[in-house]
Parts: sequence; structure tokens; C-alpha cells
Amino acid sequence: MRLDKATADGLLGLACRLAVEAGTGAAADRNADAASRAAMTAATKSSLTDVVTRHDRAAEAIIVKGLRRARPDDAIVGEEGADHVGTSGVSWLIDPIDGTTNLLYGLPMWCTSIGAADPAGAVVGAVYVPVTDELFAARRGGGATRNGRPIRASGETDLGLALVATGFGYDPGHRRRQASRLGTLAPLIRDIRRGGSAAIDLCYTAAGMFDAYFEEHLNPWDIAAGELIAREAGCRTGDFCGGPAGPAELLVATPGIFDQLARIVAPGSTVGLPQ
Ligand code: IPD
Ligand code: CA
Ligand code: CA
Repeated sequence: MRLDKATADGLLGLACRLAVEAGTGAAADRNADAASRAAMTAATKSSLTDVVTRHDRAAEAIIVKGLRRARPDDAIVGEEGADHVGTSGVSWLIDPIDGTTNLLYGLPMWCTSIGAADPAGAVVGAVYVPVTDELFAARRGGGATRNGRPIRASGETDLGLALVATGFGYDPGHRRRQASRLGTLAPLIRDIRRGGSAAIDLCYTAAGMFDAYFEEHLNPWDIAAGELIAREAGCRTGDFCGGPAGPAELLVATPGIFDQLARIVAPGSTVGLPQ
């Protein structure tokens, strides 16, 4: 059943509270941490460069504990292993730290990301960036905010003036293909940014700080909150070829440049290549 507004507002309040609690805790632990990068690393996942720190695990534990206490009948999936079957029809997707490589190196672009869906799709999303103390939030149909103030997509219509964010997966083969596309794109836009957190890329596009963001081979938890926040801020979202948005292929842009950018990043595109 599609959730009513009051219930959704309750979920958003919970998501925001837990995103801030887990993010603040991770930032404090990281600041107090004298450990080397190797000592901070708890494990590696899909490749040697895909790291899990003890901060990722601690943040997920805080979020899951809070969700289980407040919403024991909801389903929960977390990147670091949380997996609870639910009966309520509400499911949560958690990326406890998005931008783990940045956290590991002491760089500021990392966040906590919590999204919830009902049978009609994404219903709330909260993304908290501890280093800049920015809380991005959205409820379906209710607009998107940063620290409580409404945010909007940039409104840019000239691709040549667009600042475009992207990211790379951890798989070396994917990276080779993703990087080679940038040679075509870079001369056609203002510039490219690779910040290192998909959730922040989505929120910054929502706030008009980027004009667009695209990436492939993501996971559902990378985009569960940020894609809703971007849509609620007026961004257009989809895959590169006119289909619906998803983790396999995601393009999010201020509407006036979406089609132009899709034509360039679509597989097999020859736009911008010497003829
Ligand atoms: C990664 C970041 C990165 C993106 C990768 C993601 P993680 O998530 O969002 O920006 O390019 O595709 O896997 O590993 O930091 O949670
Ligand atoms: Ca992630
Ligand atoms: Ca993560």
C-alpha cells in the first residue's frame, strides 16, 4: 500500500535522525583515529581497492539498530550485510558510508545515505555529509531540502557550460570503458568532477551545484536516497537510452541538458568523435 503523507513524514524524520547520528559518530571516530589506512581497513570486497573500514560497519550498526527499534516490521538491506525480511511493505536501503575511499584518505566528500521505499517506489531519502554538516532530504511529492531549505536543479540549458559529475566502479574493466568516454565528453562541457560519492553527486546535482551526474554499475544503496532527492528537486532521471533510472545505468540532470548528455554517454555513441 502507498504510504500516506503523515507516515512518510515520520519515516523521513527517522531517516534524517539516524543519518546524522551515524555520520556524526563516524566523523568523531575518524578524527580520533590515529590508525593508518591499513589498520582502519576491516576488509576488501569486490576488488583490493574496494575497502570496508570499521567506520562503515559501525555506522551501519547504528542505523540498523535505530530502524529495528522504531520499525521492527520493515525490511532492511545494508551494504555491509544487514538483511532483514519485513512484513509492513516498507523497505530500507542503507549505504552507511558512501565515499569510503575519501573517508580513508581524510577527504571531506563522504556521507551516510538512507532511503525507504513502499510498493509505489522510493518514498523518503536522507543523505548527511558530516564534514560540511549538510543534511539533504526528500519525501515523495514533498520537494527536496538541504538543512531544511528547498533546493532546485540548476536550470542550465547549454551543455557547453555544464559542470558534470561522474564516478567509476571498482572493477578495472568497467573503469577502462568509463574513463575512455571522458575523452569525448570533456571538450563538450565546462568541466568534469569525480567527487568519490555517488550519493553526494546526486544531492549536489539536486542543489544545482552540479548540472548533471552519470554513472554505471552502481548498487541500489548508492542511489536509494539521492535519486529521489534529485527528482524532488526537479532533476530528470533515467538511463542513457530513454529507459527508467536504475543502479546499472543512471543519468541525472537539470532537464534542459538531459537529452544532449544522454546522446553522448549512450553506449556506441559517436557524438563528438572525429568523423
Ligand atoms: C562508491 C562511491 C563512488 C562511486 C562508486 C561507489 P562506496 O561507493 O559512491 O563515488 O563511483 O561506484 O561504489 O564504495 O564509497 O560506498
Ligand atoms: Ca556507495
Ligand atoms: Ca558504502
